Amino acid sequence: MNTATPVVLVTGAGRGIGRGIALQLAAAGCSVGVNYRSNADAAEAAVEECKSYAPHQGQLFFALQGDVGDTESRNSLVEHALSLFGRIDGLVNNAGVAPLERNDIVDATEESFERLLRINLQGPYFLTQKVVRYWLQAKPKALLSGGFKVVFVTSISADTVSLNRGEYCVSKAGAAMGAQLWAQRLAGENVQVYEVRPGIIATDMTEGVKQKYDPLIADGMVPQRRWGYPEDLGKAVRSLIEGDMAFSTGSVIHVDGGFHIKEL
Ligand SMILES: NC(=O)c1ccc[n+]([C@@H]2O[C@H](COP(=O)([O-])OP(=O)(O)OC[C@H]3O[C@@H](n4cnc5c(N)ncnc54)[C@H](OP(=O)(O)O)[C@@H]3O)[C@@H](O)[C@H]2O)c1
Repeated sequence: MNTATPVVLVTGAGRGIGRGIALQLAAAGCSVGVNYRSNADAAEAAVEECKSYAPHQGQLFFALQGDVGDTESRNSLVEHALSLFGRIDGLVNNAGVAPLERNDIVDATEESFERLLRINLQGPYFLTQKVVRYWLQAKPKALLSGGFKVVFVTSISADTVSLNRGEYCVSKAGAAMGAQLWAQRLAGENVQVYEVRPGIIATDMTEGVKQKYDPLIADGMVPQRRWGYPEDLGKAVRSLIEGDMAFSTGSVIHVDGGFHIKEL
């Protein structure tokens, strides 16, 4: 335990965007809780990589199993983090899933809809509630510049329709509203809340659609004409966690190569 170093819990941090965020937070001098659901090897590898990014001796890194889509698992994840680190200063709600099958909304199932909403929406919403209760009840002294922090990693799908994965779009639109709700509730409690909205990022999640997206991206669907990488998200989240936007809350940070720009 080292209660003098800020601690950030990052969900889904064994792979992909979450790992990119964990590494940048390690580089920023934070201790990091590397949450994962089932891939323990990836999470342990992420912990080792975090250590190689860490500038200070006192930083701690632990892999923490927990399913954000399950109430008991969420609660024990926070308790486990508190028992290992002694404190939590920031929460990055990154874990999320795509539908197991892409189906037109005419054919898609309620089962898939419920799965996506449970993991992508209910998960971050109530994990945030659990961490906020700790802040409000235990009243720890904030170690991060500007106060405690919550980041919701949503998606361009929060306001871009994809008719073959409507449940994903709905879950991310809901998470975007969750960020607004928590930002407003916590604005007077020394907690800033942000939504980071990634575009098309090269991870396991997008591996299956790489062939489809490569030419579209090259043709300008993404104005910057490249894929995003976990490091792009890591650097954006690092800046928020470090307090670079301390007089902002409820802000939406687009990390999408300009995808959100409307052109006539
Ligand atoms: N890739 C993109 O283009 C893109 C674009 C916009 C938004 N996003 C969002 O960014 C976030 C990360 O995406 P990614 O591309 O990095 O995905 P990814 O490569 O598929 O990795 C997903 C991560 O989330 C974890 N996870 C999944 N379900 C979980 C659960 N129920 N509880 C705890 N952890 C869980 C996984 O853990 P295990 O390793 O244990 O399975 C893994 O670490 C997601 O919210 C996604 O919706 C991604």
